[in-house]
Amino acid sequence: MNKELKREVDKRRTFGIISHPDAGKTTLTEKLLLYGGAIQMAGSVKSRKAARHATSDWMAMEQERGISVTSSVMKFEYNGYEINLLDTPGHQDFSEDTYRVLTAVDSGLLVIDVAKGVETQTLKLMDVCRLRNTPILTFINKLDREGLDPFAVMADIEERLKIECAPLTWPIGMGSNFKGTWNLYKNELHLFSAVHGGKRQKGDVFKDPNDPRLDEILGEQVHQLREELELLQGAGNPFNLERYRKGEQTPVFFGSAINNFGVQEMLDSFVELAPPPQPRPTTTRDVSPYEDDFSGVVFKIQANMDKNHRDRIAFMRICSGKFTRGMKVKHHRVGKDFTIANATIFMAQDRTGVEEAYPGDIIGIHNHGTIKIGDTFTDKEPLKFVGIPSFSPEHFRRVQLRDPMKRKQLQKGLEQLAEEGAVQLFRPIANSDYILGAVGLLQFDVIVHRLLHEYAVNALYEPVSVTTARWIHSEDKRALDDFSDYYRSDLAIDAEDCLAYLAPNPWKLESAIERFPKIVFSTTREIS
Ligand code: G4P
Repeated sequence: MNKELKREVDKRRTFGIISHPDAGKTTLTEKLLLYGGAIQMAGSVKSRKAARHATSDWMAMEQERGISVTSSVMKFEYNGYEINLLDTPGHQDFSEDTYRVLTAVDSGLLVIDVAKGVETQTLKLMDVCRLRNTPILTFINKLDREGLDPFAVMADIEERLKIECAPLTWPIGMGSNFKGTWNLYKNELHLFSAVHGGKRQKGDVFKDPNDPRLDEILGEQVHQLREELELLQGAGNPFNLERYRKGEQTPVFFGSAINNFGVQEMLDSFVELAPPPQPRPTTTRDVSPYEDDFSGVVFKIQANMDKNHRDRIAFMRICSGKFTRGMKVKHHRVGKDFTIANATIFMAQDRTGVEEAYPGDIIGIHNHGTIKIGDTFTDKEPLKFVGIPSFSPEHFRRVQLRDPMKRKQLQKGLEQLAEEGAVQLFRPIANSDYILGAVGLLQFDVIVHRLLHEYAVNALYEPVSVTTARWIHSEDKRALDDFSDYYRSDLAIDAEDCLAYLAPNPWKLESAIERFPKIVFSTTREIS
């Protein structure tokens, strides 16, 4: 095995932060970047996020080319590790993008607000992580505020996210009584101080919860700590690296991101425990990151990086081998050679040209619409990475032209936007409508805005009686034909030429499923 490659792979950690909005993802990201020396000042990530809450602001910001992109992949170094942190727009309407980004990570960091426990977005994101058994580390945030009992939060996670919790730190009180955390595997007290930004106590180290000096420091709360530690010892789940790596158990940390408390402790464990780049499945075999030959897969496309050249950036995760600038690779879907002359790597605040990159790294490649999500690039063997899903949209709208002469441009625009993954496009079999499907409503506004500004197409969208879409397939051709005849008016073809059933309401979907047991109705579709 190539020693240099092995060393580089082993020190990489590529992960995504997932949370329900407002749990503290941005605040935590910022603290991680501060530790990595990637930003010098708190506030820089935050200010980007602020604009994301309103549609108009989002669009204005989007036009300041590149901002949302630089914040979506952040690379930094910490303790000899090369960390790639993948973020996605915080707005829940962009969750589909979040889902896809999660296919490019090796692990996830789940942030939970101690007062709220598991929330809806957390549930959805965990479902996606489960598709690939992505290992998840949990940070329970906002301990400086009153919240749920820590045992109750863990029970909530275990029950609703179906993952076992193994606390590695344990909080002592919360809100105004928050005294700090006990590190369960180092057996060490970490005292909280809002004033010191939660720095580790330099003086005494307490190795034993029964140390009488703790009675003085923690007062009455020491009894509760001792009791709870005993309880955890008896009934808690011991941490098990293998189970964490399989996605069956999540190590849990408690802290307060805003006070910078518990963050470094979590980061120190994260780099140690989180998996390095993992093998990735293709249609023919699993590809190990340690293989000498280069391979990479595109998981996200971002348009409009540069207003003057209508180009797009394809985000590629390197899966094996070493990338070097100017390298020639094969673009397998189109069967052409391709020289990657100007790849970009995303540091926290700026973009720089890449000379070399390794498995786990994300590079950006400029292109003019030739690259699609799911495309694989290799330098030798033809491969096709799998596992990048398209999710069944939750909202639907019909697109109408204000100027009927622009039909061709509309089609081109919608096809390109669908390829980019900005929206899903369905063409009904029975008529010539364009139906858009999105995971979040905000996407429709963005599409209409982009059609106008990038394709000079003045369009609007209107309600359509579709509530759910399912991709349809069956081994049984006859059943498929019967189904197609029966539901012809509700069938459509998506941008990848796959057949979808657009159900006008959930009851009709139910009855279709009952009526045609040989038909498979899928909520996700592999991007081909
Ligand atoms: P998000 O990216 O997950 O949406 O969350 P974000 O970091 O923006 O945090 C949401 C709110 O929670 C922010 O308050 C933030 O300051 C606060 N917050 C984050 N971590 C902690 C913590 O450890 N303790 C406490 N008490 N609050 C925390 P905001 O009022 O919405 O914004 P701002 O005015 O503070 O900027």
